[in-house]
Amino acid sequence: MRFQQPDVIVVGAGIIGSSIAWRLAQHGLRVQLREAGRMGCQASSAGAGMLAPGGEVDGPSAFGDLLVESLRLYPDFVGELSSATGIQIDYHQCGAIETAASGNGWIALQARARAQAAMGVRSEVRGDHSLFYPDDAIVDPIGVLSALRLACLTLSVEILEESPVGRLDALDAAAIVLAAGAWTSSIVGAPAGIPKSFPVKGHLIGYDLLQGSFGPIRRCGHTYLLQRGNGFTVAGSTTELKGFDTSVDAAIVDQLRGRAEALYPPLKGLTPVRSWTGLRPGIDAPEPSIGRLAATRYWLAYGHYRNGILAAPATAARITAGITSSLETVSRGLPNNL
Ligand code: GLY
Repeated sequence: MRFQQPDVIVVGAGIIGSSIAWRLAQHGLRVQLREAGRMGCQASSAGAGMLAPGGEVDGPSAFGDLLVESLRLYPDFVGELSSATGIQIDYHQCGAIETAASGNGWIALQARARAQAAMGVRSEVRGDHSLFYPDDAIVDPIGVLSALRLACLTLSVEILEESPVGRLDALDAAAIVLAAGAWTSSIVGAPAGIPKSFPVKGHLIGYDLLQGSFGPIRRCGHTYLLQRGNGFTVAGSTTELKGFDTSVDAAIVDQLRGRAEALYPPLKGLTPVRSWTGLRPGIDAPEPSIGRLAATRYWLAYGHYRNGILAAPATAARITAGITSSLETVSRGLPNNL
């Protein structure tokens, strides 16, 4: 197929960039989606797929609001992707049980839940000194990525894999979206002054358990467990600053195994069938960069750190609304220097 000159080039085909490309194409824009490796091959496919603002933000903030909005958008996001592609996505609103490791931790958890209620995150105190977050959900990111690929292709998005951009300033399009996760700020020609992006490594392990045997997500601090529809049960995670190293460390896997067993004792004696790592997109700023870099053709969509899977629908909605209205302004000959 011959592709025409794109209106928008999206740099980075993880779940954020791919969702943006899909939404832009739905608005009739010609979109090129560029990826240095394979679509979704980094943080997006490594992610556990926990859709849980309550486990991630302590109280009201702009990013917290985006996460809550994104969680609300998720059922329609996956439903629309499934109907557009025929791909069934493993998504369940299973809720989450959060426990504390100590008495003081339990007091802090309840205080946090009260602060979270102010931002629309619902939780209930249970008799066994745990909190239940009824709105939390899980999704298999690999299913979302497969559907995004097909949905993008159906709308004639030009997907270029194994295709690093070279110099950003040499790209020819009216708008360029920077959505390359941990790599974003180091792309050659990246605009000066954008927050630095960097990788934050996390180890995960997975067990084959009986389908339907687990129930809600379980969390305690930064240890979490969730089960996919097929019974595969994921335990995470770690937070490591090791550059772009993705190797699996057996000692860290053992520690994670211990934490997972403490949180869910039936895992004792079971051996994980898989262990892997991912590079979360860290950012040298309090919140991700989402929006236009003022008075330029660059749109920033990176730095989602632990929440890229959750934040994809709302990030795509915001970037798409911004780009479509800015390109409409240009086509109507109005000043476009937001
Ligand atoms: N979202 C969970 C994690 O990054 O480990």
